Amino acid sequence: MSSPPTLERRRRPLARSFRLGLFVAAVLGNATGLFAWQQVQHERRIDLEDVTSRSYALAQQLSARVSQALELPEEEARESLEGRLEGYRRLLGYAVFRADGRMVGAGTAMFDFARETEDASRAAMLSQQELVRVTRAAGARIHILAKPVPPAGTPAGALVVVHDVSYLDDRATARFSQYAFWILIETLLAIALVVGSTWLAYERPLSKLADWMRRLRVDNVAEAPPGLPTGQLRSESDRLAASFRAARSTGRALSEAAVHVEQVWTRDRLRAHAIASLGEANQLIVVSNREPYMHRRQDGKPRLMVPAGGLVTALDPVLEACGGLWIAHGAGEADRETADAAGRLTVPPGDPRYTLRRVWLTREEEQGYYYGLANEGLWPLCHLAHERPIFRVEDWEQYVRVNRRFADTVLEEAGASGAVILVQDYHLALLPRMLKSTRPDLRVGLFWHVPWPNPEAFRICPWAVEILDGMLGADLVGFHLQQYGNNFLDTVDRTIESRVDRDHFAVELRGSRTAVRPFPISVQPWVERNVPRDQELAGQIAAVREQHQLGDAFIAVGVDRIDYTKGLPERFRACERLLQLYPQYRGRFTLVQLGAPSRTHIPRYREYLDHLEALADEINWKYQTDRWKPIRFLIGHHDADTVYTYLHMAPMCIVSSLHDGMNLVAKEYVAAQAGGSGVLVLSEFAGASRELVDALIVNPYDIEQFAEAIRRGIEMPATERFARMQRMNAQIEANNIYRWAGNLLSELSRTQPSNVVSTTGS
Ligand code: F6P
Repeated sequence: MSSPPTLERRRRPLARSFRLGLFVAAVLGNATGLFAWQQVQHERRIDLEDVTSRSYALAQQLSARVSQALELPEEEARESLEGRLEGYRRLLGYAVFRADGRMVGAGTAMFDFARETEDASRAAMLSQQELVRVTRAAGARIHILAKPVPPAGTPAGALVVVHDVSYLDDRATARFSQYAFWILIETLLAIALVVGSTWLAYERPLSKLADWMRRLRVDNVAEAPPGLPTGQLRSESDRLAASFRAARSTGRALSEAAVHVEQVWTRDRLRAHAIASLGEANQLIVVSNREPYMHRRQDGKPRLMVPAGGLVTALDPVLEACGGLWIAHGAGEADRETADAAGRLTVPPGDPRYTLRRVWLTREEEQGYYYGLANEGLWPLCHLAHERPIFRVEDWEQYVRVNRRFADTVLEEAGASGAVILVQDYHLALLPRMLKSTRPDLRVGLFWHVPWPNPEAFRICPWAVEILDGMLGADLVGFHLQQYGNNFLDTVDRTIESRVDRDHFAVELRGSRTAVRPFPISVQPWVERNVPRDQELAGQIAAVREQHQLGDAFIAVGVDRIDYTKGLPERFRACERLLQLYPQYRGRFTLVQLGAPSRTHIPRYREYLDHLEALADEINWKYQTDRWKPIRFLIGHHDADTVYTYLHMAPMCIVSSLHDGMNLVAKEYVAAQAGGSGVLVLSEFAGASRELVDALIVNPYDIEQFAEAIRRGIEMPATERFARMQRMNAQIEANNIYRWAGNLLSELSRTQPSNVVSTTGS
């Protein structure tokens, strides 16, 4: 165990703040002291100028009489000046001298300054100019003005005016003391301010950070880093913690991995593998449109939600295992208030394993890029579901713009060091080229989660060239199936000037090389997830049976985003046909369809939802009884616990996609049936049908065959059901999500990051 930080260790940062405070105070004190000194001197000069002006005025008034007196003999001259040479208050008096230096007369107080006045009069007569002197004599500071008389021509004598200006020294001292007092107050305030603010803003957080790092190192604490003063430091410490935890478990992971049968990929094995594959890059960044954790607002408060969709299901466990950063669109209404100023937060909440960086988009950007180009254009283009793609130039412009926004965010987060970037899906097709044209050293992989159509289908896209060029910026492009990869190579071959290397499944374009590989995506084992078990699970199952009046009916479950590619009308119709052909199942078979509304701003998706509701109503109306309905259509967002409860309890799962890259619900069902004997009815047009050959494979367009497959599943002998499910289960266990990520990283680390050519059209 580590020792707690000592008092001595806590004091050190405070002493540092104090030293900084003293330094700032010294600089400030000296600067303001110098300024005060100059100010006092300036004011003193002004006071002296006042005295000088006054002396000139007095000398002026007397100079006519002095001039007359100098023309008289000695005695008469003295008499004519009698009484006029005395001073009062600060004016000490006057003295009059002849040209030969003899004094004609002077005020009484002037005799103390006989030498100074005589010197001044002589100098003035010699230079034939008025002269001002400030000097110290007889214990006082005096101001002397000596004026030749008459002022022009050869002087007949001189008039001297003397003031006592000792009070100006006293005044300067008093002013300076006053300034010194305020300088002292200001200096003390500066010390307090500097010590307080550096302590609060830097020393305290840094000392907490040091404490947290020590505990991370010594005690391996799982808590999030403390609040830090800068966003960059926060994000770096998040990553550091994630990497450190990953590195710490490397040894354990390696030895565990060695003990395990070689085929089994675990979270720890992936973590160890990721560290080795990332190499010097040492930083994994995943980029997708959809974020793994979204905050919606419910009853005025932020509520955490995990969005539906295979991408999140698959990639969250990968990031949890490897640590790193996930950049995605912050689409939830409460997303901003639950992230920091840069859009960052650590996730999963409560057990942070990696950092999520949210990218903010305007309504127009989201409309054009996500709803428009991505989901009304590319989505129907890639899925052969007989939906006409819509391409609008303004959507394309937003698509380019948002891809650029994501690229800027990735470049900012990657910093100067190397990084491995895993770009996800059709929303971000331009990103690889944008990244590589700025940072050729980054290793960039692109994984395409949806099917890739044949070249004839793809070439209707007005920006086919730009999209392919953007994708070919990547070092590696991954698809679920080899068939999609082949379609992609054919499309590239027919669309852009490049060399397609079919022997090695790669494309060479303007000196760069992109490998094209299949990576069938998969799922995380349910045992690793915090879902209900044993008694709790039994309670949940009883509760949902009760809630939806399922009685002891045979349950077939469907779990889908509500999307026209999922074949939901076909599924409903197949269930209806089952009840028509085999009336014995009326009252004894129920399809529970969990449907998460999706992309509902798009009219086609709203129409589809309305159509499904009407269809379910129509079928239910035909067959339902007081206590039973053939279709329970549960529209809404269903959390992982609910989904697991249905997948575990249902003896049948139906996946009827008209076209689907993989479809992870099929794999989730198999994983939830570990040790069980459920039947999977699976569309031949879902990528998962290539691996799950023990499912009952159907063509969802063929309603007769589909209904027959459901009947066959219901009636299948228990031993056959069990054997099929165990074979599928072994397949999913061996080819889980950790193996998928491990293969992807291995392949990416084998590529040469050489794609340096700049973008053509985008
Ligand atoms: O699997 C394809 C995909 O588009 C993913 O990219 C996405 O996460 C998922 O479907 C759900 O769709 P959306 O993100 O549009 O809700």
